[in-house]
Amino acid sequence: MSKKSEFVVVANRLPVDRVTDGDGEASWRRSPGGLVTAIVPVMQRRQGAWVGWPGSPDEDVEPFEAEGLSLIPVRLSARDVEYYYEGFSNATLWPLYHDVIAQPVYRRSLWEVYERVNRRFARAAAEVAAEGAIVWVQDYQLQLVPQMLRELRPDLRIGFFLHIPFPPMELFQQLPWRRDILYGLLGADLVGFQSRDAASNFVRLCRRFCDLRTQGHEVMVADRTVRADHFPISVDANELITLAADPKVQNRAAQIREDLGNPASVLLGVDRLDYTKGIQQRLEAFIELFEDERLKSGDAVFVQVATPSRERVKEYRILRDEIELQVGRANGLYAELGAPIINYMHTSYTREELAALYLAADVMVVTPLRDGMNLVAKEYVACRSDLRGALLLSEFAGAAQELHRAFLVNPYDIGGTKNRMWEAMHASPAERARRMRSMRRRVIEHDVDLWAKSFLDALENGRSGTAGASGR
Ligand code: ADP
Ligand code: G6P
Repeated sequence: MSKKSEFVVVANRLPVDRVTDGDGEASWRRSPGGLVTAIVPVMQRRQGAWVGWPGSPDEDVEPFEAEGLSLIPVRLSARDVEYYYEGFSNATLWPLYHDVIAQPVYRRSLWEVYERVNRRFARAAAEVAAEGAIVWVQDYQLQLVPQMLRELRPDLRIGFFLHIPFPPMELFQQLPWRRDILYGLLGADLVGFQSRDAASNFVRLCRRFCDLRTQGHEVMVADRTVRADHFPISVDANELITLAADPKVQNRAAQIREDLGNPASVLLGVDRLDYTKGIQQRLEAFIELFEDERLKSGDAVFVQVATPSRERVKEYRILRDEIELQVGRANGLYAELGAPIINYMHTSYTREELAALYLAADVMVVTPLRDGMNLVAKEYVACRSDLRGALLLSEFAGAAQELHRAFLVNPYDIGGTKNRMWEAMHASPAERARRMRSMRRRVIEHDVDLWAKSFLDALENGRSGTAGASGR
């Protein structure tokens, strides 16, 4: 009989993706996004199993060990990837949960596969969990798993955490399967969200659409009480501090600045290439500073790193084309020979290279139109022990609830963003240091370990879960 685990994480993706090179050689690479960044260090410190998809279709992979973790692959066919992952998860739920920035697709065929695949994940988790184990289900792709798992294994303690925003009633009620999703989540003992608003939205929706009795953070379901609370996620601050103190990383940062022509200001964006991230809006604000002749080539360079993401989903393909057009046009107008005003990289980097980029950047530009948290903002802050950088941050990122001393912007307001960007570029060293010191205090105290501990303590003991929550 296979080994059972006392602690199981269930997520759509494993923390590593299987990649095959030109010679057909297969290897594993860290998978993208904030979920993996946050959970990997937590899991490395606990001995547990991680149930997830290895990242490519029709791949049969045996359980294996990587990054010091025990990984249990769940197979997805090409059709599952199309209907469950690209379809219901990323063309229905993702836009619906992010303020309907793009129009969600509501199709029954996508829903049916979402249900079927959620059941597969629930079965895989039921198989690997030891008697009375803790199972922690992650994110919007698996919202039905808590209830399905409870039916299979009533002995388990089940937690669920949503990494993205949870929409208000006015938007959520569009979803034809709204009750199914709510009941799916209610299979958990504890449902965690990034923000207090998200947790209240959930409780209100349970009252309204499931006719359930609620009291404060609690929802009464038959003979059980389900708790909904907020647990703002964070980064492994110590790991980043150590990385940023490494002389190799610091030399690389100096080299990057030199390669960019040592401009007065280096601005940086690091994102998955996603329409929620406000990449076009931030570039527009930057380009307008040249249009207005407040900047000229040599004064400032924008480095935008955009990891390829969900490339088969239509909205993502359109976005990529639009950004590439925008960058090309801006450089055509304002760059000088060998000195583009925007350096755009459609690729992903190692943690070392990212840390070097953070150190090289005078202004980190994080302007999502909506974001559950945004770990990039916190990573930047953790890396800047020198207190010299400035953070330009959208009000619509969960991180803005904690990083009050960032230069806050409404990314829909291009004029306002442009002026704030200018202000951040020209802030005095003393002002930058004051702001950065206060933000660092928050990120270092409320790191990813405290987040996990707060959630898991609340799950195990049924206690209040706000220990890691915003100090507001
Ligand atoms: P999301 O979860 O929506 O992708 P977050 O900002 O919360 O957004 O998390 C993104 C994570 O992915 C961060 O840990 C960040 O360092 C990492 N990341 C983003 N872009 C890149 C990139 N180009 N190369 C490597 N890692 C990246
Ligand atoms: C966000 C989501 C994660 C997701 C990640 C990367 O962080 O909250 O659930 O894994 O983006 O997206 P992908 O579709 O590549 O898994």
